[in-house]
Amino acid sequence: MVFAGCDAGKGGEAAPPEVTKTPFSPEAGANEIDHHSFANPKEAVTRHLELDLTVDFQNRTLGGSARWEIENNNARQIIFDTRELLIEKVTTGVGADEQEAEFTLSPPVRFMGQALNVQIDSATSVVTIYYRTDPTAAALDWLEPQLTSGKKLPFLYTQGQAILTRTWIPCQDSPGIRITYSATVKVPPALMAVMSATNPQERNTQGVYTFEMEQPIPPYLLALAAGDLNFQPIGERTGVYAEPELINAAASEFADMEQMLIAAEALYGAYLWDRYDVIVLPPSFPFGGMENPRLTFATPTIIAGDRSLTALIAHELAHSWSGNLVTNATWNDFWLNEGFTVYFERRIMEALYGKDYVGMLAELGYQDLISEVEDLNAAEQSADTRLMLDLRDRDPDDGMTDIAYEKGAFFLQLLEQEAGREAFDAFLKAYFENHRFETMTTDRFIDYLQTNLLEPNSLDIDIDAWIFESGIPENIPQVNSARFRAVEDQTSAFLESGGIGALRTEAWSTHEWLHFLRHLPVGIDKALMLMLDKRYNLSESGNSEILAAWFECSIYSGYSPNNLAQIEAFLNRVGRRKFLSPLYRAFIETDQIETARAIFEGARENYHSVSRNSIAQMLER
Ligand code: BES
Ligand code: ZN
Repeated sequence: MVFAGCDAGKGGEAAPPEVTKTPFSPEAGANEIDHHSFANPKEAVTRHLELDLTVDFQNRTLGGSARWEIENNNARQIIFDTRELLIEKVTTGVGADEQEAEFTLSPPVRFMGQALNVQIDSATSVVTIYYRTDPTAAALDWLEPQLTSGKKLPFLYTQGQAILTRTWIPCQDSPGIRITYSATVKVPPALMAVMSATNPQERNTQGVYTFEMEQPIPPYLLALAAGDLNFQPIGERTGVYAEPELINAAASEFADMEQMLIAAEALYGAYLWDRYDVIVLPPSFPFGGMENPRLTFATPTIIAGDRSLTALIAHELAHSWSGNLVTNATWNDFWLNEGFTVYFERRIMEALYGKDYVGMLAELGYQDLISEVEDLNAAEQSADTRLMLDLRDRDPDDGMTDIAYEKGAFFLQLLEQEAGREAFDAFLKAYFENHRFETMTTDRFIDYLQTNLLEPNSLDIDIDAWIFESGIPENIPQVNSARFRAVEDQTSAFLESGGIGALRTEAWSTHEWLHFLRHLPVGIDKALMLMLDKRYNLSESGNSEILAAWFECSIYSGYSPNNLAQIEAFLNRVGRRKFLSPLYRAFIETDQIETARAIFEGARENYHSVSRNSIAQMLER
C-alpha cells in the first residue's frame, strides 16, 4: 500500500519572497553585520532601556517614552530602528540632564521601517524618545472582548521576533545587541499587564505595573501582554497566567513544567532567569509559542486536556539556553536558535517520557523536514534548505522554515550519535556556560565545534554539507518509531478491508493519530472518511493538532463539503499560522481558492498581522 498522503501539500509556512523593490542592503543604510537593522552599534550602542508606556485600547495605541542608556564610542549620531512609529520628541544628555535634540527619519524601507537618526556628541550617555505606536503596528494584536475567553474585556499582546519590536519600541533591533530593561506600564484598572521580565502575580487597583529585566536580552525578546489575567503557581519556580476561564485547565495541562525545568538544568546547567512562567494567550496568537524570557507566550491550542501537546512548553523552555542565553547573531544564523532548541526539547521530553515518546516526535519532525525540502525545491528555493541562510533583501520571516528546526536538530543528533551522548552533553553544557549572554555566529560555532568536539574525539564529519549545502545529507540519523509501524499496519488493513474494526485506536496517543491522518491517501473513499468521522467524531475533536490534520485531509480528499462549517469555524477562531497555512493552501490546491478567499474575508480581522500577511500573500497569487 502506497500512501500518497493527505499531507501532499503541507509544510511551507512562508510564501516565496516577492522581489524587493527597495533593497535594504548597506547601501540603503542597513548595517553590515545585520542586514535587518539600521543601527550603528560600533559607534553608539544601546545598553539599558527604561520604558514608560500607557496602553490605550480606545485608540489602539501605546504612548510614552523609551529612555536609552547608551555606550558611546565618540559618535556624532545614534541610529535606532523604527517602523510606523510617531516620534514626538527626542532629548539627549548626560545622566539626568537632558535637552531636546535634532533627529531625522529616513524614508520607509519595506519590512525594515525607518532609521531614526539622533544627533549626539561624544559625551551623550542618554537618549529619550517620546513616541506613540500606530493602530496597525505589526507587532501588536489589539483584541476586542469577543475574541477573548471572557468576552468582557479587551486584550493586547506583542510579538517581536523577528524584526517587529521596532513597531512598538524605537530600538536597535538586532539580535546581536543585548539590553537590560525596566518598565512602567499603565493599563485600564480591570486588566493585568505582564512582560518578559519580573512579573506581578496579582492585579493592582490602579492598573500601574512595573517590571525589571536584569539579564541582558536582544530586543526581539521584549514582550508585553495585557488582559483579564490570573496567575496560578505550578511549582516553586513555575506558574501560569491565563484568563480566569482557562486558568485551571492551563495549570493542569502544564503540571509537569517544574519537572521539565529540573530536567533541562540537569542537561545543560543552571536556569539563569530566576522564574519560568507561561502565559496562555487568546487563540489569535500566530505561533505555538514564543520564548519571551521568564514568560513564554503560548497559544491556547496546546491545551488538549490530556497533556499531549506539551513538547511545545519543553521547546520554549529550552530556548532559555539556546536562543536567550546564546543568541543567533543575525537571522541568517536562525538555526542556532531553533535547531538547538528542537534537539534540546526532545532531550527534555525523553527525560520525562522516555525514548518511545520522543521516537514519535522525531519521526513527525522528519516528515516535516522531508515535505519542507520538497516544497522549497518545487518553489525553486532550494537555497533555503541550507542551515546557514542568506536573507539579505528579504523579510526574515520568509526564510524561517522547518529547515532551521528539523535539519538543525538532526544535525545535532548526528553529532551526538558520532561523539557519544556523554561527550556531546559535556560539550553542549560547556558551550552554554562559555557563551552565556552572548551572541553566536555560525562560523564561530563551527570553530568551537571543531576545537571542542570534533578534534578531541577525532571525528571526521562533513559539516559543510549540513550547514552550507542544500538538501538532506545521507548521514541523517534514522528514525523508526515502532508505534508508528503498528499504526501503518492497521491503516493498511483498514483501507484494504474498508472495515473500521481493523483500527485499534484506544491506546493511540495524539502522535499516533497524527501519523495515521498524515498517511491517509488523498484518494481515500468518502465513505471511509464518513465512517472515521462518525466513529471518532474527528470534525469536533478538542485536540487542535488532530483537528487541523483531519481538516487538511478532508479538503484534499474531497470530504470537506461534509465539514466545511467546522473548518470555517476553526479558521475564524484560531490564528496560529502553522494551522492556517496548510488549510488555506489545501483549498488553493484543490481549486477552491474562492472558498478560501471568502473564509479569509470573514476571519482576517481575527488574526495577528503575522498570520494575516502570510495568508493574504498566499491568496493574492
Ligand atoms: N521562536 C519561535 C517562534 C518564532 C520563530 C517567531 C520565528 C517568529 C519568528 C518559537 O520558539 C517556536 O519555534 N515556536 C514553534 C513551536 C515549536 C514547538 C516548534 C511554533 O510556534 O510552532
Ligand atoms: Zn523555537
